[in-house]
Amino acid sequence: MTNKLKYFIGNWKMFGDFSSIKIIYQLNKFCISHIKISKKNKIIICLPSTLIAHFKQKLKSKFISLGAQNCHHYPDSGSFTGSVSAAMLKNVGAEYIILGHSENRAEGETNKIIKEKIKISLSKNLNIIFCIGETANEKKYNKTFSILRKQINECIAKNFNTKKIMIAYEPVWSIGSNKIPKSDELSLIINFINKQLKKTFKNKIKPKVLYGGSVNSKNIKKFQLIEQIDGFLIGSASRSSKNFIDIIKNYYK
Ligand code: PGA
Repeated sequence: MTNKLKYFIGNWKMFGDFSSIKIIYQLNKFCISHIKISKKNKIIICLPSTLIAHFKQKLKSKFISLGAQNCHHYPDSGSFTGSVSAAMLKNVGAEYIILGHSENRAEGETNKIIKEKIKISLSKNLNIIFCIGETANEKKYNKTFSILRKQINECIAKNFNTKKIMIAYEPVWSIGSNKIPKSDELSLIINFINKQLKKTFKNKIKPKVLYGGSVNSKNIKKFQLIEQIDGFLIGSASRSSKNFIDIIKNYYK
């Protein structure tokens, strides 16, 4: 295994209340007592917007950063009932933001809107976790590569700051389904994404590439063999400290 820093990112989705901070306290305890492992990875928990300010205030950790899960594509304040802006999320303590998640795409978010959100979030100094991935139907009709190419090309511009963007490859059919891609197929796809990114960004530092979709403590070992994966976006298994810690432990076993 290389010594490259690996990312373990939790996506809590629409879960959690103030008491859920105990999950993060447990994670922090684990990090403190496993310094060797902690030095090799970075933990980020992407929270519902309602929890960010409170958790930021309570959590004193050099191991764990907090993130948000989406924002409006309008830069600052505006008449958008029920929405929050990137500036607001940054202001309450988010350092990262998930954008382009398939659950938001399913509600009508287009590549054009996602590009705006990435641009605005970068301008507010947020780090981007940009999700891409094909649906089951697109996979069936061999459209995976063309969909990924389109999502990359239409959502990220050449002049974006690559140091602040990570790509999370999340096949839509894998999210919450307990199905994961075959290792050889996943390797090919990660290589393809890396090639596309190199094409787009030429001499700039290439964004990191993560995998997301049904990652758990039992299947994490399979991903460990694919060196090119820089980390993981973890949904349901990130809402239990035991599951999250077991994923990290098993990855380094
Ligand atoms: P999952 O979700 O780990 O529950 O499949 C991943 C995600 O949606 O980011």
